[in-house]
Amino acid sequence: MEIRDDSVSRLPDAPLDPANLPFGRSFSPNMFLMDWDEGQDWHDPRIVPYGPISMSLSAMVLHYGQEIFEGLKSYLHPDGSVHLFRPDRNAERFIRSARRLSMPEVPVDVQLEAMLALVGRDRAWVPPTPGTLYVRPAMIATQEALGVHSSNRFLYFILTGPTGPYFRTGTRALRILIARDWVRAAPGGTGAAKTGGNYAGSLLAGNVARQHGCDQVLWLDAVERRHIEELGATNVMFVLDGVLTTPPTSGTILEGVTRESLRILAREMGMPFVERPIHIEEIIQGLQAGDCTEIFGCGTAAVVSAVGELVDVNRGEEHVYRVDDGHEGPVAKKLREALMAIQHGTAPDTHGWMVKV
Ligand SMILES: Cc1ncc(COP(=O)(O)O)c(C=O)c1O
Repeated sequence: MEIRDDSVSRLPDAPLDPANLPFGRSFSPNMFLMDWDEGQDWHDPRIVPYGPISMSLSAMVLHYGQEIFEGLKSYLHPDGSVHLFRPDRNAERFIRSARRLSMPEVPVDVQLEAMLALVGRDRAWVPPTPGTLYVRPAMIATQEALGVHSSNRFLYFILTGPTGPYFRTGTRALRILIARDWVRAAPGGTGAAKTGGNYAGSLLAGNVARQHGCDQVLWLDAVERRHIEELGATNVMFVLDGVLTTPPTSGTILEGVTRESLRILAREMGMPFVERPIHIEEIIQGLQAGDCTEIFGCGTAAVVSAVGELVDVNRGEEHVYRVDDGHEGPVAKKLREALMAIQHGTAPDTHGWMVKV
């Protein structure tokens, strides 16, 4: 692919400090753009200065949400090299999302070339550990039309931005509200796709969670309202009777790259690991009886984030269930440290997960 280079050169004014880089607030100087038109496939790949683009308010993405995105990170290793973590897995998921949202596929090799070219261009913006350069590929429907149908024009773009840790709680474990009144995804819906509408529909629950002093919500299934699915915008894992347990991805759950990587690491460490349906009652009883000793979310942004308290509001009455001593447990700690060591280049990458820029 011949990428047109209209980029700018700009270095950070001061050394990047991960402690002062809130998630997703600052962006690197350049971005990648590429167009698709019916009959013309993908064309005009280019790296241009980061900034606003001109788009009509009749663009279909603004009305019907035909949009997908991805999220991954690049890491500065001790030897000064820069690496992406498993970008092929994100590229493959982007294609699955595109199919579900009736959008054109961007071939994996094209996505990887675009990401590597852009991160390479702005490599000076990769902050030191524990910071990362967040990479946000996305695709939007740009046809100017108000009929409800698939767009005949699309824009694929990638933004990057230096970032510190996702949760501003530091090492404090999360307080999580069980979402009894809302669902994130239903069978046959778009839960397994990374599309904006899933997140728009989750914001109200997140706001109510904050009113209860919680950081996020625990999503239950849409049919029986008892199978645990996800935790905010991360996958969720439990330690139940000493077994690392997570719900199966069956169409309503996003297939997380972190989840998949932790499963591999856990098996290598000899930790018992199962994927099976988990009922919320089982967790509440397990917390009361001491059989459920850990709960944690896992995802690119949050890495591994321990849950310290589960909050359930029933007919206006708030019940709080503490997870063990309310702090990160040994399983979460071991997995978090093992994963981060590989990502940040302080442990050998025996799986071939890191892709050098
Ligand atoms: C809804 C949802 N679930 C799970 C995840 C975790 O996926 P990954 O580990 O690929 O970041 C994410 C984040 O991408 C997400 O948005």
